[in-house]
Amino acid sequence: MMKTNKMVSASILSADFSKMGEEAQRMEKAGTDWLHCDVMDGSFVTNITFGFKMLSDLKKWCKLPFDVHLMIVKPERYLERFIEAGADLLSFHIEAVSDPRPYLNLIRSKGVKSGLAISPDTPMEKIFDYLDLCDFVIVMGVYPGYGAQGYIPATSGRIAQLRKEIDKRGLSTLIEIDGGVNLKTAPEIFESGADVLVSGSALFNAAEPDKFIKELKNC
Ligand code: DX5
Ligand code: ZN
Repeated sequence: MMKTNKMVSASILSADFSKMGEEAQRMEKAGTDWLHCDVMDGSFVTNITFGFKMLSDLKKWCKLPFDVHLMIVKPERYLERFIEAGADLLSFHIEAVSDPRPYLNLIRSKGVKSGLAISPDTPMEKIFDYLDLCDFVIVMGVYPGYGAQGYIPATSGRIAQLRKEIDKRGLSTLIEIDGGVNLKTAPEIFESGADVLVSGSALFNAAEPDKFIKELKNC
């Protein structure tokens, strides 16, 4: 099996939104590495979630690194606002911009980890020119917009393709998989070369989230 860092990012999309602070603390206690925060605008995707204020308020409830995944059009308008709100890792979609370079540079210049997210139908090569500016890449395992969807099997081949390119170029870019992660799909996802698994519905519904995170990492 390929050597990976094996981290978990708990997706608060699956939390009870009326208890966001408690839910973030529950995930911190369970041992998640990062807190994955899905920002949706009802335009890039049909769903709408939350914005800066939610994140800056939530920041007071836990010490976890905030892994902020923007699913919005024109993400460049809001990068600085999300950084001010406390993003420790900040990603936007390749499909939402024509040239991601200035934005990835801006994120890094603020001391925040920069990421590009890529949807299932976008050819993986589309991001290859920008990999040296990415601290991480989010490969979607489902069509963005909603939690609790089934993993798209073709994702594994896409992860392997990206792993090969990153290794060939000697980069340290992390591969994060978002959508459809559970104990059944995780072994194949890690085997394909992923470093970080986002977990929403499977983790939040687990009877013992701490055990679930350990099991996921042992996959
Ligand atoms: C989907 C979101 C994911 C979602 C994953 O657009 O980006 O972060 O929360 O949820 P699960 O783990 O339930 O597939
Ligand atoms: Zn996400």
